[in-house]
Amino acid sequence: MSENYFKKYPSKDGFYKEYGGAFIPPVLEEEMNKINDAYYAISKSHSFISELRSIRKHYQGRPTPVYYCNRLSEKYGGRIYLKREDLNHTGAHKLNHCMGEALLAKYMGKKKLIAETGAGQHGVALATAAAYFGLECEIHMGEVDIAKEHPNVVRMKILGATVVPVSHGLKTLKEAVDSAFQSYLKDPVNTIYCIGSVVGPHPFPMMVRDFQRIVGIEAREQFFEMTGELPDSVVACVGGGSNAMGIFSGFLDDEECKLYGVEPGGRSLELGDHAATMTLGKPGIIHGFKCYLLQDEKGEPSPVSSVASGLDYPGVGPEHSMLKDMDRVNYDVVSDKETIDAFFELSRLEGIIPALESAHAVAYAIKLAQKEKQSSILVNLSGRGDKDLDFVMDNYGMNY
Ligand SMILES: Cc1ncc(COP(=O)(O)O)c(C=O)c1O
Repeated sequence: MSENYFKKYPSKDGFYKEYGGAFIPPVLEEEMNKINDAYYAISKSHSFISELRSIRKHYQGRPTPVYYCNRLSEKYGGRIYLKREDLNHTGAHKLNHCMGEALLAKYMGKKKLIAETGAGQHGVALATAAAYFGLECEIHMGEVDIAKEHPNVVRMKILGATVVPVSHGLKTLKEAVDSAFQSYLKDPVNTIYCIGSVVGPHPFPMMVRDFQRIVGIEAREQFFEMTGELPDSVVACVGGGSNAMGIFSGFLDDEECKLYGVEPGGRSLELGDHAATMTLGKPGIIHGFKCYLLQDEKGEPSPVSSVASGLDYPGVGPEHSMLKDMDRVNYDVVSDKETIDAFFELSRLEGIIPALESAHAVAYAIKLAQKEKQSSILVNLSGRGDKDLDFVMDNYGMNY
């Protein structure tokens, strides 16, 4: 599948079979075409590639390790491994695409980076990239998430970003995207919207995936070097889907590797209580692209809920939507409760505090390990949990 697959998807106009595309106003269409052309021209140049390589090694600290979870595997069976994106600079995989997007912005002569954030990890990563390249940075964040992810708000401000609170609707990730788009539309010539996942109009799902492919390339090599084989299963949480696309892209060709995308089952599987887009949604359009979407009877995006702010989105990347229809990736849910259990299990058995987003993947790996005692499971540990400590202790601490 690999190189042919990446040449084939997306198509020239940004489609992954029926998903993706760019359903946007003409003024934005012109800007997206410019970004697309610049990406094709610049990202293949020797200077861009060598600058990004150097940043990854000397600034981000890549490659991040693959680690075998001895005590977790002993307790639950199976052999559970983690790809440690929590050790990437700023504590999550998000910096992989932010440094790429910001480097592109620099080559294009842009002055300012704009983005949304849910858990604050993309906001912190983009503020970091802006500081590194000497660009302005504006981050839109729902008021609910500002309260929940306070440490990341402080980090963004210290890094020099302006944080714009979003107070309409549910005041979470979807509304933050709406708000960031509006701000970007005011001056698309001098600014660039650095979207935080493999979502949005073409070319963003493709660019973000390409910048995240490093995770899968490293993980495949490292796992093989450690064990002499490939993992039986690869597991990643799915919000918009960037960390999952990153690690899956290393294994798409290996049909013997089962790929699992884990969605937030939230409080219950009633509409409004979860964000299980792939499992319970149906095709629709959101934020300028087509994907599986949780929607009401009028086709409007429905309210969503998850203990993890970074997974709290009613849409999902178009490439995931296609991979679901192709049956190449299995999508499933874990609940808030299972996520919190996994958060404490990984902390206490391995000394690694995961982000609540990543704890969804850990929870699913624990379930798989119990079912398939002989199998090897590689989890993309997309981020660390420092941002979630107060929220977890305030809401669940007494019970654990
Ligand atoms: C640590 C971490 N993992 C995962 C996600 C979900 O995003 P994606 O599905 O794009 O990887 C987020 C989003 O904020 C995050 O902070």
